[in-house]
Amino acid sequence: MTQPITPLELFHAINAGQVVEILDVRNIDEFELSKVEAHRPVPTRNVPVYRVFEELEAEAQRTVEDAIVVCGQGNGSQLVAEEFEGLGRRARSLEGGTDAWNRLLVPFEIADLPGPVRVWQFLRPAKACLSYVVGVPGQRCIVVDPTRQPEAYLELAAEHDMTVAHVVDTHVHADHVSGGPALAAQLGVEYHLPPEDAGGVVPFPNRPLKDGDVLDLGDAEVRVLSMHLPGHTPGTIALLVSDSVLLVGDTVFVRGLGRPDLTGQAEELARDLFRSVHERLRPLPPQTLIAPAHWSSAEEVNPDGLVVTTLEDVFTATLLNERAMERFVEEIVTSLPAAPESYDVIRRVNAGQVAPPEDEIDVLDVGRNQCAASTSLL
Ligand SMILES: [Fe+2]
Repeated sequence: MTQPITPLELFHAINAGQVVEILDVRNIDEFELSKVEAHRPVPTRNVPVYRVFEELEAEAQRTVEDAIVVCGQGNGSQLVAEEFEGLGRRARSLEGGTDAWNRLLVPFEIADLPGPVRVWQFLRPAKACLSYVVGVPGQRCIVVDPTRQPEAYLELAAEHDMTVAHVVDTHVHADHVSGGPALAAQLGVEYHLPPEDAGGVVPFPNRPLKDGDVLDLGDAEVRVLSMHLPGHTPGTIALLVSDSVLLVGDTVFVRGLGRPDLTGQAEELARDLFRSVHERLRPLPPQTLIAPAHWSSAEEVNPDGLVVTTLEDVFTATLLNERAMERFVEEIVTSLPAAPESYDVIRRVNAGQVAPPEDEIDVLDVGRNQCAASTSLL
């Protein structure tokens, strides 16, 4: 029987250029909402499963040998792969389907940092979201911008004998449902979210971090400093680790800027963004590593798998070299793409203002993020 491929295997196979074709047998709406993508383009066809079975032999012929078949949960795609095999066409099904793909987190360590603190960046390919574990092996760690699948963070913490001491959301996210409050509650640790992003109050235990606050990771020498950077949202905070890595949320990306319009005050926040980057980021050492919360294109991913760049590169690669504030504001505001309709609901879920049933949250939490301002700014 044809062996399914796991989401992690598929992620690495796509990036290694080993996937020749993806046959996605979900219905067209689901396919349009969230495709299976990683860092290399793969020819992808969408043929709903009932049509595949209507024309089984012809579809087996049309499908490239060793294609990956994808459906929602991995059952229909497995049947298709087995039928194809019976017709002499080798294909493998994605185990767990796009539901499992949507949950996949892949950790990469930001290596060679000074001091004892280590930083792991977790890529979530389905959403192009990034989250982090920052900690000292044998001591404490924090989890930053977690998704709703905390297992990967907890496994890594256990592997390095670290106790999770804090859970931080750099801002109220609009593109994905945060796992922050649930993870903090599960572990009985402090949760930190800027309440300015939620109209001033949130209905769950929260200790907002203020400029200059320190999260102690267990060694007196080791500190994580927080920094208020309004722009993408009014309350965004960034975390400066060991004076060398800045977990910057969606303020800036490797190529691009966080859009300032998702809370409905685009011009005001675009001005804040301008001030944040010029008054707070620019004075930092140019070699400071910028570790964002998203990426938009494969060009932002380094050969080692990390989505990280230097502050110096951010300034040369984005509109941030525009030094006139009003020109910056006009350019960014007039070229913003429309925000997905779901973003307002996701923001209210993350601020604790609405609590839809779990299956509705699952639906909200699919599709690649659209948190960057227009790429025409690049
Ligand atoms: Fe965001």
